[in-house]
Amino acid sequence: MNIALYLQRKKRIIDTFLRDYLNSRKKQGGCPERLRRAMGYSLMAGGKRIRPILTMATYEALNGGSRSVIPVAASLELIHTYSLIHDDLPAMDNDDFRRNMPTNHRVFGEATAILAGDALLTEAFNIILRTRIRPDIKVSILNELTEACGPAGMVGGQLMDIMLEGKRARRSELVYIHTHKTGAFIRAAVRIGGIMAGASSSQMRSLTEYGEKVGHAFQIVDDILDVTGSTEEMGKTTGSDAARGKNTYPLIFGLERSRRIAKDLIDESIRAIDRINGRIEPLKEIARYILNRKS
Ligand code: IPE
Ligand code: IPE
Ligand code: MG
Ligand code: MG
Ligand code: MG
Repeated sequence: MNIALYLQRKKRIIDTFLRDYLNSRKKQGGCPERLRRAMGYSLMAGGKRIRPILTMATYEALNGGSRSVIPVAASLELIHTYSLIHDDLPAMDNDDFRRNMPTNHRVFGEATAILAGDALLTEAFNIILRTRIRPDIKVSILNELTEACGPAGMVGGQLMDIMLEGKRARRSELVYIHTHKTGAFIRAAVRIGGIMAGASSSQMRSLTEYGEKVGHAFQIVDDILDVTGSTEEMGKTTGSDAARGKNTYPLIFGLERSRRIAKDLIDESIRAIDRINGRIEPLKEIARYILNRKS
């Protein structure tokens, strides 16, 4: 299969949904235009849409056929964008560029950037609530997301990332940071696709292992690209991890060993879904793409 074309097609579906969402927000009224513009600025700045794509690919792997997967998948991108806006704030990573544009707070100021993040996070849940899905499945999706993005997930990982800045993390702490700030959400993206498609418990176990490993590898590769990638390709300032004293895989393990660890995780993730009887080729190709990507 042509993975580049596959990703492009899926990204277009998500982008279309997000554009329609922003327009409908305007029509509904009630949201200050400045806030809507700040939300749209970061949401439509580009981005790989890899989390929604993972949800859709998982859903389709298990023969899920309803279009209600699109709003659910796209809502993950609202949460992801909120996390990026807040991650870039001066009190966090203090970064000036994101998705090839000045960061949200550089354009709109810190207060509006914080509120745009808050608004995107809240809206994600609103979009899911308004989507026609079986109520028990909806509750499972919300459970999955709140666990993955909350204090024992992304937010906890982000806190440890910040707390250990400038200090050398133990390996167990490094693994905690990476599997929580980034891994938990990616694992949830995969599991939500499974939940929506009615995955069996053994399928869910395989998907969970896949999501966990791909999610962990995703952040290792992000660390590697912060060292080896160019700012133009990445669309964000590279070298910023070292400048801020972040605990990264290249810092603790060196580049070569980090690459090896990421590759092993990706190989294992692909093996984990081998026993699933379905259209798993896209999921395998996405895993390889996450390892080999340049941005
Ligand atoms: C960047 O995520 C932040 C991390 C969790 C490493 P992505 O690499 O998915 O960023 P976009 O969405 O493509 O901009
Ligand atoms: C970001 O990790 C994780 C979240 C946004 C939750 P990074 O701080 O490494 O992400 P980038 O490199 O700024 O995209
Ligand atoms: Mg960060
Ligand atoms: Mg950052
Ligand atoms: Mg990074």
